[in-house]
Amino acid sequence: MKQATPAAVDVAEFVARRSVGQSLEAPFYVSQEFFDLDIEAVFARHWLFVATDAELPEPGDYVTVAIGPYSIIVVRDDNEDVRAFHNVCRHRGARILGEERGTVGNIVCGYHQWTYGVDGKLLHAPSQAPDFAPSCFSLRSVHARTVAGLVYICLSQTPPEDFDEVAAQAEPYLAPHNLAKAKVAAQIDLVENGNWKLTMENNRECYHCGGHPELLCAYFPTYGYGEQNLPAVLRPTYERYLQADAAVRLTYDSLGLPYTLVEELDTRTTGFRIQREPLDGAGESYTSDGKAACKRLLADFPTARLGRLAFHTQPNAWFHLMADHAITFSAIPLGPDRTLVRTTWLVHADAVEGIDYDLDTLTKVWAATNEQDALFVARAQQGVSSPAYVPGPYAPSEEDVEAFANWYVTRLRAYLSDTERQR
Ligand code: FES
Repeated sequence: MKQATPAAVDVAEFVARRSVGQSLEAPFYVSQEFFDLDIEAVFARHWLFVATDAELPEPGDYVTVAIGPYSIIVVRDDNEDVRAFHNVCRHRGARILGEERGTVGNIVCGYHQWTYGVDGKLLHAPSQAPDFAPSCFSLRSVHARTVAGLVYICLSQTPPEDFDEVAAQAEPYLAPHNLAKAKVAAQIDLVENGNWKLTMENNRECYHCGGHPELLCAYFPTYGYGEQNLPAVLRPTYERYLQADAAVRLTYDSLGLPYTLVEELDTRTTGFRIQREPLDGAGESYTSDGKAACKRLLADFPTARLGRLAFHTQPNAWFHLMADHAITFSAIPLGPDRTLVRTTWLVHADAVEGIDYDLDTLTKVWAATNEQDALFVARAQQGVSSPAYVPGPYAPSEEDVEAFANWYVTRLRAYLSDTERQR
């Protein structure tokens, strides 16, 4: 029997009727139409965190990043600046670099050997006509910039202008951790069987943190709860948090480290949140006892007891920076129900594995937490894929999930309205 073709999802209709205060309707999470829209309206138009300076320590070091149908080369040039280019040859369009990372002198297309410098300029194209002008065939550039060691790219030719303001606000918090001089101790790629928005929503709340026993050794699971919404079971933890917070603020003040919450998750084009907070236990790091995982601190801090600096950027990243190490996370959509979560652990460039840090101790908490989150996301994907799914209400502690959804829908509306205007 011939199968009925599924009706195309009317994305504009679903975007227009989205209800605030509750989770999104199923097509946002499961349909190819929304996946395609998300790539064009969100990932191709906003600043994305894709790598760290530490992954590109020398000129010629590169990573390639796949965003939907796009492939981007992120490379350090001979002036030691980070540049980004579409990974598409200017001859007949072949994908130039096929590896995820590596080091090149020049960027050479393996098809007919067109050769580009790491500044994107075409240096050599064999056997061309005499009037061929190499200067007309540089690689197409992609906007790239670093913020205190974090590499962001934007595929749009007119990137959101407010990124400068966000960077200016975030850099004083981030810069003391010296990430531009750090090295990669570990990196784990995890493919979650869920839509990228479920990955992000899961990250933006701690309502589910009871499922993270390793994390709770160091993390105060009071994130998102105000005094009035705090469940009784978290009251002792909250009291401990308040004491730790008062103590660590004295340290922040004495060291001149900014710590005040800045939260603009859904009130600007480049939504972000940043805050310095205490950690539980010894208060130093994400370990089973809260003690530093790396003896060599990231910077010349007089103490390791600095808690964590939490930085979130829409649409796809979150970060934890401690005194001894930092962890970066990026979420990249692979399909309607698949998302790459890349986690990178950074330590001081001179820290030595086996002497200053043990890799298992360094990565244990977040490697386990990521695996647990992957299961939560997969369960959520399975649930929203059922015809029985209807959107449910956000709890008060899920305000950052709602802020993410608000930001996301606002960006879709802006894109749909722009494309409508251009018709
Ligand atoms: Fe790259 Fe021909 S397509 S050199």
